Amino acid sequence: MSIKTILAIETSCDETAASLVKVEENSEDFEIEILSNIVASQIDIHKKWGGVFPELASRAHLETMIPVLEESLDNDIQNIKNIDYLAVTEGPGLIGSLLMGTEAANLLASLYKQPIIPINHLEGHVYSAFCASKSQVPSSNNQTNFKIQIPKTGIFPILAIVVSGGHTSLILMKDHLQYEVVGQTIDDAAGEAFDKVAKLMQLGYPGGPIIEKLAQSGDENAFELPIGIKDQADFSFSGLKTAVLYLTKDVRTGKALEYNQADLAASFQKTVVDTLILKTKKATQKYQPKTLILSGGVSANSYLRKRFSRELSKIVPEESILIPPKNLSTDNAVGIAIASALKTNSTDYVEADPNLKLG
Ligand code: KG4
Ligand code: ZN
Repeated sequence: MSIKTILAIETSCDETAASLVKVEENSEDFEIEILSNIVASQIDIHKKWGGVFPELASRAHLETMIPVLEESLDNDIQNIKNIDYLAVTEGPGLIGSLLMGTEAANLLASLYKQPIIPINHLEGHVYSAFCASKSQVPSSNNQTNFKIQIPKTGIFPILAIVVSGGHTSLILMKDHLQYEVVGQTIDDAAGEAFDKVAKLMQLGYPGGPIIEKLAQSGDENAFELPIGIKDQADFSFSGLKTAVLYLTKDVRTGKALEYNQADLAASFQKTVVDTLILKTKKATQKYQPKTLILSGGVSANSYLRKRFSRELSKIVPEESILIPPKNLSTDNAVGIAIASALKTNSTDYVEADPNLKLG
């Protein structure tokens, strides 16, 4: 049995996040106690631009980094001295945003002689799902801490579908930290499609939560919309986006067309979810996973969560389907900390890589 504490930092896009965990490695599992989960969102900064404005994101990370770290360390930055390891997202993401996290980690590592564990943002999303049994994860260290157990064996293969603003990936894992991407988007990511369609419909940013809310009062069968490349494992959402465009305006004249917004939001959301479920079902039949994971920002969508659980539990036992609590579906440092808890490699300097691949 070995025990270590890790402070994880995540800044790949527009959330500055830190999480402190205590890890106990046993012969059969990892027991991880989540001691803090701090996320400073920049949504209000980027809202008026209709998307993430990279330079403003970097500046906001710089401003919030110290307060976020302090809060994650029981409101006393001096506690950093007692940490065994640092972990940080090295990529993929926006270069300016990533650099704020990696440079903070590099500086702390050189000041306090702590090794750094570099983590891929996508593995953070995957490992966030191991908090699935919690309906909500405490967002500060003043609340009750909680523990999770991750078995070393018996849960593989894992099939994970990560649906975020930057990715739509089907990932096969034959062991911990072993990733094979078996399907991915060839154009827009699912979250990106939500954001772009919300923009076309002039609904605001970020599109996902706005479309979800509007869809509640719409008829999901009002518009028949296309599912991209049905017969392959890869995803395509650009045809769906174009279909929505044609319903919102006359592209020859640029004249806005009349349509029911709630009906279009509901039909669009249904088509995205139909697509995600269709591809996951096919991959599940092919790879026969023992564990199925749904994660990433789009997995905060209640309609997707409900349908995914209902439809996939017909082929995988319900208790083997892991979906993170909503506040760990979107970007966070808890998943980064959990993934790092399982790693044995560390370094004293991390270089940000905006195009980092998984596996
Ligand atoms: O994972 P995430 O926080 O950041 C990236 O790694 O990209 O995902 C952000 C994406 C955005 O595109 C956002 O619109 C989408 O997740 N999203 C949602 C919902 N909440 C966030 N999409 C659909 N329904 C939601 N409730
Ligand atoms: Zn993400």
